[in-house]
Amino acid sequence: MPGKQLLMTFPVTATSHTLDDYRCRDGYATLERVLRQQTCEDVTREVTAAGLLGHGGAAFPAGRKWSVVNLNDGQPHYLCANADEGEPGTFKDRWILENAPHRLLESMLIAAYALQVRHCFVYIRGEFDLPYRRLAAAIEEAYAAGYCGERILGTDFACDIVAYRGAGSYVCGEASGLLSSLEGKRGYPRNRPPRLTVQGLYRRPTVVNNVETLANVTGIVANGADWYRSFGTPKSPGTQLVSISGHIARPGVYEVEYGYPLTKFVYEDCGGLTGAAALKALIPGGISTKVLTGAECEGVTYDHQSLAAAGSSVGSGGMIAIAEGTCMVRLLQVMLRFYHHESCGQCTPCREGTGWMHRIIDRIVAGRGRPGDVESLLEISRRNDGTTICGMGDAAGYATVGILAKFRDEFDYWIEHGRSRLMGKLEVGIDA
Ligand SMILES: Cc1cc2nc3c(=O)[nH]c(=O)nc-3n(C[C@H](O)[C@H](O)[C@H](O)COP(=O)(O)O)c2cc1C
Ligand code: SF4
Repeated sequence: MPGKQLLMTFPVTATSHTLDDYRCRDGYATLERVLRQQTCEDVTREVTAAGLLGHGGAAFPAGRKWSVVNLNDGQPHYLCANADEGEPGTFKDRWILENAPHRLLESMLIAAYALQVRHCFVYIRGEFDLPYRRLAAAIEEAYAAGYCGERILGTDFACDIVAYRGAGSYVCGEASGLLSSLEGKRGYPRNRPPRLTVQGLYRRPTVVNNVETLANVTGIVANGADWYRSFGTPKSPGTQLVSISGHIARPGVYEVEYGYPLTKFVYEDCGGLTGAAALKALIPGGISTKVLTGAECEGVTYDHQSLAAAGSSVGSGGMIAIAEGTCMVRLLQVMLRFYHHESCGQCTPCREGTGWMHRIIDRIVAGRGRPGDVESLLEISRRNDGTTICGMGDAAGYATVGILAKFRDEFDYWIEHGRSRLMGKLEVGIDA
């Protein structure tokens, strides 16, 4: 684990997901202190001062989102933990659910207190089996111990937490699609405004936060905003759980302090590329973030500002290392098939555009590419940008533009010769 971290991660043992173990680490002591000594406003003020950024992809400040909820409107408010984690390459929320479910629950209860929420939901990806079982068991333990339900810890605060299993759709990770699904409808994302903090679940004010964002709340409230800000950089405080996969010697989940050198992380902490290959490219935060070439990673630090300056972003923390020899045409083919398959179909540019892009890339790979195909891919991406209800249309375009901008020669070669430039050389298989 790089950096001085340990905001989020704690030694994982065979029992670290249990209540007994969590209590040995002062578990639920912060909730108790908050309920007895702090106001709702105190909690939101601390989270805002800490500068906690959303860890689900958009890096929106959590305190700012919470502050929009009107505590005096007399309406029910809802809190949803987004545990859908559908972004390819991302598996860090799963780590929290499997190893530290009580950290999430305690944080949710503190957040629920701050937002005056009576009913919380954890929307968990349907394919997650062990994470769901661990979470469900933790919720049961929390009820039995008096941390959930009526009169929590003998106070007037009451709160229920329900784990809801999704049915396997990428767009149900988008906050408004998630709420549609939670309401029992088709998981269609919704047009905004109104913001979800004004009209969310059942048209009531709702906060949707990523699992990791919420899991940070207990530490912030227990230790204070200054403590949290002692990690990371002034504009990117704290740490990020990074799940790294692809052609990497030591794949897994690492807690990385913002500001940490990117290549040091890849080469030293993660052991470099498999087979000591050179780093051809790196996708820093799930496939919806723009790819960086190996050379572009030099000198970049792992934080929102440095990655933005390099032309990409932290995204969902799902890093994918790509070794020299990998065919980027086939990589884009896999991505476009995914976006086409996952488009919910509500918006024409996304529904049709992802289909067109998928068909074009399939045609190129089949050796039937035509001059102008690359321009068509770029033009369709451009037309998706900002014209769709949710960010998925944009994301398909970002992935495409990012790869084409940097590896166009591989596409041109395949179109001209009907095959990969890397064939017969070192083409590393991508599961297509
Ligand atoms: C297509 C799509 C899929 C998304 N999937 C997830 C997801 O699986 N988990 C997640 O936390 N956020 C996901 N998001 C982002 C959410 O819409 C939302 O911004 C996030 O849950 C808010 O939490 P945060 O502010 O704590 O990051 C997705 C967004 C889009 C456009
Ligand atoms: S952008 Fe795509 S996934 Fe999002 S609402 Fe529109 S059609 Fe559905």
